[in-house]
Amino acid sequence: MTRPVNIKGPNPRPGVLDISPYVPGPDGVDGERAAYKLSANESALGCSPRAIEAFRAAGSELHVYPDGSAAALRDAIARVHGLDPRRIVCGAGSDEILQLIARAYLGPGDAMVQTAHGFLVYELAATACGARTIKAPERRFTADVDAILECIDESTRIVFLANPNNPTGTFLPDSEIRRLRESLADDVLLVVDCAYAEYMDAPEYGDPSRLVDDFGAIAGNVVVTRTFSKIYGLGGLRLGWGYCPTNVADVLNRIRGPFNISAPAIAAGVAAMEDQEFVERNRAHNSVERARLQQRIGGLGLDFVPSVANFILVRFADEGERTAAAADAFLASRGIMVRRVGAYGLPDFLRVSIGSTDANDAFLGALDEFVAT
Ligand SMILES: Cc1ncc(COP(=O)(O)O)c(C=O)c1O
Repeated sequence: MTRPVNIKGPNPRPGVLDISPYVPGPDGVDGERAAYKLSANESALGCSPRAIEAFRAAGSELHVYPDGSAAALRDAIARVHGLDPRRIVCGAGSDEILQLIARAYLGPGDAMVQTAHGFLVYELAATACGARTIKAPERRFTADVDAILECIDESTRIVFLANPNNPTGTFLPDSEIRRLRESLADDVLLVVDCAYAEYMDAPEYGDPSRLVDDFGAIAGNVVVTRTFSKIYGLGGLRLGWGYCPTNVADVLNRIRGPFNISAPAIAAGVAAMEDQEFVERNRAHNSVERARLQQRIGGLGLDFVPSVANFILVRFADEGERTAAAADAFLASRGIMVRRVGAYGLPDFLRVSIGSTDANDAFLGALDEFVAT
């Protein structure tokens, strides 16, 4: 229900004032930057030096508008992923693509379905459009296709599914996503948000882009979203993309800003996409460190949700002194910022990004100390 608005001046559309603004992972306390930021699932190894070089070179031409179609970037993405560049839509972060999809397909009276601990932005985007959000229960912190299907009714227009999911770090195999798609009505759009896909090493994950083509390349109902913010290490640049059927790409291109990606972002994105060696290095680092962190966290007697991504959800006691709030404060006192996830319905957990070896060592040292107190 939209809250009554009784202030003077223009009123926003229904739903807007129901939104609690997104709170990003903190980078410090009281304006002081912490030594280690493990709160935003950023890249542990920075970004490709080639991306920085391309960004700097583009800086000498800032008076020129970018190519509004971002053709060079779409071509680079298409080459690396084996896709049709005409069906790639780029955005200022995958966030913009998610927002555009909501704006295009949701309105008052419509419903969007997501999972209980799904990424927060879906609900914010749906609410801003005046649509309802229905949350399907998860099983063992993992999306459950049958539970999602139970939430669908005639008002459902979109299912948003993060695969892998943030903040749980779990995933559904390709076969389950296909089962979900096959059980949905044709006019329900399935959006598979693959922000963390590159960190996956389970073969049953498959290639998410194939879903788009297999369920209708011309008049289809699956969109896959991807980002440069995670393994590519370009969160500050704001760059993401969606792979769409022709009908959806056409809709998103009508409503996006005509120059939504800046010229330096296009240039850096092309260079980053072409540096797959960097991506591989980052993936290898993450796999090794993720295994090490999970082993050490488990060794301390703490529960965690086994992760396929670049973060781990760790459980702290829900009473007594070793609560998530106490752990968060202790880690912050040692210069380590992690993410509280109460807003995701997980008040007893902290989400810890997998960082550089140094950052992870600092986190493990502080965690040892906290558990020993
Ligand atoms: C699941 C998921 N999707 C999308 C995003 C948005 O990322 P960006 O807008 O930086 O591409 C994030 C960021 O944390 C995420 O965790």
